[in-house]
Amino acid sequence: MTSDAFLVVAFGFGYLLGSIPFGLVLTKLAGTQDLRSIGSGSIGATNVLRTGSKGLAAATLIGDALKGTIAVVIMGYYAGPDAAILAALGAFLGHLFPVWLKFNGGKGVATYIGVLIGLFWPAAVVFCLMWLAVAFAARYSSLAGLVAAFVTPLFLWWFGQPVLASLCVVMTLLLFYKHRENIKRLQAGTESKIGAK
Ligand code: G3P
Repeated sequence: MTSDAFLVVAFGFGYLLGSIPFGLVLTKLAGTQDLRSIGSGSIGATNVLRTGSKGLAAATLIGDALKGTIAVVIMGYYAGPDAAILAALGAFLGHLFPVWLKFNGGKGVATYIGVLIGLFWPAAVVFCLMWLAVAFAARYSSLAGLVAAFVTPLFLWWFGQPVLASLCVVMTLLLFYKHRENIKRLQAGTESKIGAK
């Protein structure tokens, strides 16, 4: 296979893994109400938490993160660093725009962390620390994700990782786009806080 073909395979593999909607699958298996009809309507861990199940929310967070990590690690191992980056982008896009859900997927925070774990774990640590700091201070999951996603490319640039920083700029722009309703609610003071139904 040519190296270009490997990149296409890496992107496709990442997309397929990333498009597995763990929140939806787990809540359906648990017999919970359809996630898309409660809270923000999102299929991510924050909305799963609004079902009242911390266990399901944690499992969703882990699943949505791990699918990104696995895509990056497998493609990085078999096809090299460029393929790992394409797999990361594919997984992130798969999570945000899964073909199975008519391209209405999650908002990207968990999968962003997951691909960072596979590509360059210190950036995942920075993302998580920023998320935790803002979440503890402000109690808004969306704001925590937005701030962490804003800071992470800057950290990567400062740390001498321009390629990863560029990937993260793209992922951050997409993450902001998927949070556009959250941003409006934050501005209006109507965003729900962590733990609220
Ligand atoms: O990770 C998703 C979070 O940033 C926002 O979720 O359900 O409050 O829109 P939600």
